[in-house]
Amino acid sequence: MANQVYKPNPAMKPSPHLGSMKEYEKMYKRSIESPEEFWQDIAKQFHWETPPTGKFCSYNFDVTKGPISIKWMEGATTNICYNLLDRNVRKGMGDKIAFYWAGNDPEDYSRLTYKKLLIQVCKFANVLKEKGVTKGDRVAIYMPMILETVVAMLACARIGAVHSVVFAGFSSDSLAERLIDAKAKVLVTADGVWRGEKLLCLKEICDAAMDRSKKLGHEVESCILVKHLPRLSAFQSRDGDGKVNDAEKSPEKRKAYDYQVPWNEDRDCWWDDEMDDASSSCYPVWVSAEDPLFLLYTSGSTGKPKGVVHTTGGYLIYAATTFKYVFDYHPGDVYWCTADVGWITGHTYVVYGPLANGATSVLFEGLPFHPHNGRYWEIVEQYNVNQFYTAPTAIRALMKFGDGPVKKYKLDSLRVLGSVGEPINAEAWLWYYNVVGGGKCSIVDTFWQTETGGHVLTPLPGCTPMKPGSATFPFFGVLPVLLDEKGKEIEGPGEGYLVFRRPWPGIMRTINGNHQRFEATYFQKFPGFYTSGDGARRDEDGYLWITGRMDDMLNVSGHLLSTAEVEGALSEHPSVSEAAVVARPHPVKGECLHCFISTKDGVQFSPKLVDDLRKKVREKIGPFAAPEYIQHAPALPKTRSGKIVRRILKKVALNDRSLGDISTLADESIIENLFANLPGKDLKT
Ligand code: WTA
Repeated sequence: MANQVYKPNPAMKPSPHLGSMKEYEKMYKRSIESPEEFWQDIAKQFHWETPPTGKFCSYNFDVTKGPISIKWMEGATTNICYNLLDRNVRKGMGDKIAFYWAGNDPEDYSRLTYKKLLIQVCKFANVLKEKGVTKGDRVAIYMPMILETVVAMLACARIGAVHSVVFAGFSSDSLAERLIDAKAKVLVTADGVWRGEKLLCLKEICDAAMDRSKKLGHEVESCILVKHLPRLSAFQSRDGDGKVNDAEKSPEKRKAYDYQVPWNEDRDCWWDDEMDDASSSCYPVWVSAEDPLFLLYTSGSTGKPKGVVHTTGGYLIYAATTFKYVFDYHPGDVYWCTADVGWITGHTYVVYGPLANGATSVLFEGLPFHPHNGRYWEIVEQYNVNQFYTAPTAIRALMKFGDGPVKKYKLDSLRVLGSVGEPINAEAWLWYYNVVGGGKCSIVDTFWQTETGGHVLTPLPGCTPMKPGSATFPFFGVLPVLLDEKGKEIEGPGEGYLVFRRPWPGIMRTINGNHQRFEATYFQKFPGFYTSGDGARRDEDGYLWITGRMDDMLNVSGHLLSTAEVEGALSEHPSVSEAAVVARPHPVKGECLHCFISTKDGVQFSPKLVDDLRKKVREKIGPFAAPEYIQHAPALPKTRSGKIVRRILKKVALNDRSLGDISTLADESIIENLFANLPGKDLKT
């Protein structure tokens, strides 16, 4: 079934930007043969304070020829916030809704027009200036999915400051590491947030992170807090006269009432207090096209996260163009991306891409299962969503509740369904296509990375014939190549390393403070190419299928993690002498963690130790990284030179005895013990 081709719906209304593969091929050809002209034409829609005049794109992708460098529109100046807000307001869209905000609780909602968003952004930009933030300074953002988060990001962009959004599911240690690496001057957060029925006290996490950062030599000067919790009182059920009546019933809710926000007089201030006094006009700071716009941390295979740097001009045109074509956005549409703003999807396809197109979006704070399993579909119906973009892990989780919760709602407005973050299995694809999309929507399985800034492989709605699980073909300006282990190009059908031959405008420019690591990670293995770290297969029809990571990275519910990062956290426990972590398939999360633990001499491997280790990973990285399986490994399979052989551990994790050649192991006899210690009964036999 997976190889069946699903033709786009010919009755799609309004008619798609690109109606056939012929049109796509023509446009793609131009983007490859004359990339400068192609992007120059697109850039004309935007405001450039100093127009691009010099070389439109210059780059070196070959480490053997000198330092890696990528520059688009060097010499031009602009302001991305001006392009997203002022430009659209000037075009007469001031009263258009930029965001419908839907809270964790259905009773909590609001909306913001382009004009009002611009005023809020200008005010907050002035608040930041008041705190001493100037061009090039770094501002960390650790926030729930609320309108203030978008305001904070755009306020940074307005004054040329660089934002570093940290997903508010990361632990205080992870936040501290990112505050230090970015040298964040200001941290913007909220008192707390409800995630489903769970209260997260964000300020406490921030305090712990700022304390740790200070101890390690970097002091955050100001912390600005959005007062978010009281507004969420709607979450608590009320009796007739509106009095909250269940505070006593749940300890979690009690906590919210008793919550005293920890405070540091010298450093902390409330968002509203600062905004009250701030002027609502703020002239944008014109920055160079190659000035950094934001940092976003992503896992690295050495364990230390990499601060991916994106710049202004190229990112603007790439975010805008991919948004327009990949979601086939037309004026009047309502678009919804469920990704958290703490990830790249939330940057490019919640904030920058939609606003650059003057789009109306839904910004959703909550979870798909709260207060019921039809929450996503309820929102689609409520706002008449036309484009819906989510992750396979959410689709798989929702599928488990059957078609019922979907069928309860009217989803006729949907035209485009997007998938991102991990490979989508055929079963989930078909459910998405048939049940959610009623067999009439285009599914866009978008392959891309934090590093690529925007989609690089993707079908186009109404245009590309789809195959379930294939990310199909490259976006404009993108030249994918498959290489074998030796770096030889694979032509026609085949499987290999997915690399890219030349830069598109939205690709990352460097790693914060470590250009050498940038070159080593992405350009060393195959000189002349950007190496994605993923593998891919090309079928007989030229379709590309992502086969998964080729390095020690794994994807848990669409969150990219490195095994080294988790091993580092586990090894910090005093009872652990050595830890090895591998990925294994998981029916909902896509992949999950299986950890092998060697204990120190005299230490018993116990259920308590397993609990402690799980806690350790939650503390060091964040709850989403908590391992599914932790088992005792009296000894680990190693080569004679002491390298852990993960290939074998992956097989053990699956209780699969087809181990292949084990003669390279220093000691083959340890393997039986690993199988004997396997946890759980749900294993393949
Ligand atoms: C994986 C998320 C298969 C891939 C935008 C990549 C995918 C990593 C897809 C980047 C897809 C993303 N099909 N795999 N459509 N999209 N991936 O940086 O392994 O959080 O390298 O960016 O997710 O994850 P990141």
